[in-house]
Amino acid sequence: MSWFSDFNRSAVGKKTVMAVTGILLFGFVLVHMIGNLHLYEGRHEVVVDGQKQMVPYINEYGTFLRQVGAPAIPPHVALWIARLVLLTAVVLHIWAAWQVTLLSRSARPQRYVQLRSVQTSYASRTMRWGGVIILLFVIYHLLHFTTGTLHPSFVEGDVYHNMVAGFSVWWVSLFYIVAQVALGFHLYHGLWSMFQSLGWSHPRFNLWRNGFAHAFAWLITLANISFPLAVLTGLVR
Ligand code: HEM
Repeated sequence: MSWFSDFNRSAVGKKTVMAVTGILLFGFVLVHMIGNLHLYEGRHEVVVDGQKQMVPYINEYGTFLRQVGAPAIPPHVALWIARLVLLTAVVLHIWAAWQVTLLSRSARPQRYVQLRSVQTSYASRTMRWGGVIILLFVIYHLLHFTTGTLHPSFVEGDVYHNMVAGFSVWWVSLFYIVAQVALGFHLYHGLWSMFQSLGWSHPRFNLWRNGFAHAFAWLITLANISFPLAVLTGLVR
């Protein structure tokens, strides 16, 4: 018990919670981006009740996600487990970030005038504001594409239509693009400091660490921005 409460109270413990939940969330964002690439596959012909229909590949992918584990477990169960794990990771990630902020403030009761490294304060400010923008984005995104509450013409299960109709509204696409840029900065700084928190920071390793953080942040940001842009430019319709 005592090692756990010591770990939990220490800055290292909180940073480890942030790093481990960050890896999970990063994994989700990567897999989600790869899944969304099905948008570019377009539609294919399917015969349903003797009728030929053009079904988008991305709709089939959405159906697959809802059916994962069936028939061994009822449909939606695996999806709900994944949602609960993700939600727990988000809550712990934000809690740890908040705790680390409080710790760094209490360690520095009087604000430094000059001593604080410009680079460190820039990175931590970017992380905090980026985190807030990403949280607001995710709330909007769920109301937009999952529940359809804030969508102009939501059709349950028709992911392709929902994406095309959703991104046809230019200011919605603009908001998505801005949020993806914030996500890119957050991923870059997050991946970089995650290695530090997990104790993997040797000068010889830093070049590789920097390259890895840049590559993944750019990959996810550019791919995610491409979805609204593909709709706005008429490439996907
Ligand atoms: C432009 C980039 C993105 C696109 C085009 C996109 C698209 C979508 C779509 C279409 C859905 C609904 C899928 C369905 O109902 O089958 C969805 C769900 C979701 N997206 Fe995204 N997404 C993007 C970026 C993100 C990002 C950056 C995050 C997280 C930081 C995120 C988190 C989620 C979550 C949590 C769900 C709900 C999954 C569920 O519970 O069913 N998305 N996304």
